Amino acid sequence: MEKKVSLVTGASSGLGKDIATLLSKKGLIVYITARRKEELEKLKKECTKDKGEIKIIPGDLTNETFRINLISEILKKEGKIDYLINNAGYGKLGALDKIDFKDLKGMIDLDVIALQHLCALTLPSMKKQKSGKIINISSIAAIQPPPYFATYNSAKYAVHGFTRSLSYELKGTGVSTSTVFPARMKTPFWAIAFKCKSLTGEEQKTCVQKWTAGSSQSMPVAKHIVKKLDSKKLIILPNTLSIIAYYFFRHFRFIGNYFMKTKAKKDAEKVLENQV
Ligand SMILES: NC(=O)c1ccc[n+]([C@@H]2O[C@H](COP(=O)([O-])OP(=O)(O)OC[C@H]3O[C@@H](n4cnc5c(N)ncnc54)[C@H](OP(=O)(O)O)[C@@H]3O)[C@@H](O)[C@H]2O)c1
Repeated sequence: MEKKVSLVTGASSGLGKDIATLLSKKGLIVYITARRKEELEKLKKECTKDKGEIKIIPGDLTNETFRINLISEILKKEGKIDYLINNAGYGKLGALDKIDFKDLKGMIDLDVIALQHLCALTLPSMKKQKSGKIINISSIAAIQPPPYFATYNSAKYAVHGFTRSLSYELKGTGVSTSTVFPARMKTPFWAIAFKCKSLTGEEQKTCVQKWTAGSSQSMPVAKHIVKKLDSKKLIILPNTLSIIAYYFFRHFRFIGNYFMKTKAKKDAEKVLENQV
């Protein structure tokens, strides 16, 4: 049987790396992309004994030309993309007036523009073969946005709205799309999201560990996503924490708002003031 072809963005660490690993074990041809080529190569080596096959195309997804070349190279080699997993993303914690404009733009460029452009570039071939699945990684932050994360939250709201709208547009084409709403996971995301000022090495690690205490690893989340690969459902809630958070924050918005204005705000301020 012809192997299915997938593309996983942001596969050099965290959730993307776990999704790519599982898809390779499942027997798919898995194209992986991210900027850190050495991490992608490491993953390819780890997966050599799998049923599937990992193929590397490293690059910066905020670069429009790279995105165009990425999709056309896969289509030229494989003739199709069955699954597009738009996972690459980053966030920076901080007061809006203190966030470097480079990051403000960077978050939107990667989390919103790159994601949408990859969908647009992949859709013609999916529509032609009358099948295909696009999975876009949003966040519980798109349901209840925490403070000091305004730009990141807005990006994840955009992912949610974009995917929902696209799902209506794709009805009848054989192509479907889902949004995933992960709750907080223990991945390198948080070490990038904030640096406890003046802390380095072990102290910085402890600071990040405190912030992510009680959150899940990314592998169980990845397993759920891969299980739902062919699901036609728009919304994927990948673990118990995200199911609870999704329904709780939707139905008890006033409690969510109160929590964000009080405890969540104080916690973030402690990190930002280096008091954790
Ligand atoms: N961790 C959480 O608590 C959490 C919660 C909800 C949602 N999410 C979402 O889950 C997704 C995965 O995040 P994660 O937690 O696994 O974080 P992560 O480990 O930091 O992974 C982010 C990935 O994105 C890639 N990336 C960043 N900038 C890029 C660029 N300019 N071009 C190409 N690739 C780029 C990174 O690779 P390179 O650095 O090698 O380029 C990395 O592979 C993100 O969309 C994130 O917003 C995370």
